[in-house]
Amino acid sequence: MKKALALLMAIAIVLSLAACGAKTEKSNEKTTGGETASTPAASGKSLVVYFSRTGEQDKVGVIEKGNTKIVAEMIAEKVGADTFEIVPKNDTYPMTFDALCDVAKEEQNNNARPEIKDTVKDFDSYDTIYLGYPIWWADLPMICYTFLESYDFNGKTIVPFCTHEGSADANTQKKIQTAVPKASVKEVLAVRGQDAQKDKDSVKKQIEDWLK
Ligand SMILES: Cc1cc2nc3c(=O)[nH]c(=O)nc-3n(C[C@H](O)[C@H](O)[C@H](O)COP(=O)(O)O)c2cc1C
Repeated sequence: MKKALALLMAIAIVLSLAACGAKTEKSNEKTTGGETASTPAASGKSLVVYFSRTGEQDKVGVIEKGNTKIVAEMIAEKVGADTFEIVPKNDTYPMTFDALCDVAKEEQNNNARPEIKDTVKDFDSYDTIYLGYPIWWADLPMICYTFLESYDFNGKTIVPFCTHEGSADANTQKKIQTAVPKASVKEVLAVRGQDAQKDKDSVKKQIEDWLK
């Protein structure tokens, strides 16, 4: 209960920050990696990379396929991309929501870089990386920063997508751009996690609109 309240407060803060950000962006023609970040159009060979959890999740109870994974598979099918799941080397993440919140918060406070089990084969051959993640405490899960810091993104295009329960993209486009300044980071597709489980048709429509 305390975790849910803390999360709600985090979401409220992010929403007000997002409102401020939207105002700033209107007056400062938003650019990333030297080009206007308005469309996620991809060119060349694409890879869908995602991090996603099963077990007990917010608003959906215990799930067998993670919310972000569902969206990742839809995108991969739509654009004909290869996929790579970010799996922790030592997967000790709890399967209950409150306990997972505690671990995630601790990782964030420590600016941790949890290790990833596998590596992407032939990463250099991909031009566009679709990167999917759940919003954790108004940010990317720290293991996604491990991923971003593990490869050379010079000249690559990153097309981010996230699932959330109220924070929307939580300004993660800018966070990714800061982590990989040489990449061109596009607009984030933000999908409600519960829609990925319960309203797949609406998610498919959101993906189609975003890809346009
Ligand atoms: C540790 C943790 C922190 C979360 N923090 C937020 C948050 O700050 N804002 C938000 O909207 N949702 C938050 N959520 C909800 C998740 O973003 C949402 O349930 C997501 O769809 C989970 O995706 P997954 O099943 O792919 O892991 C959090 C969930 C967890 C487990």
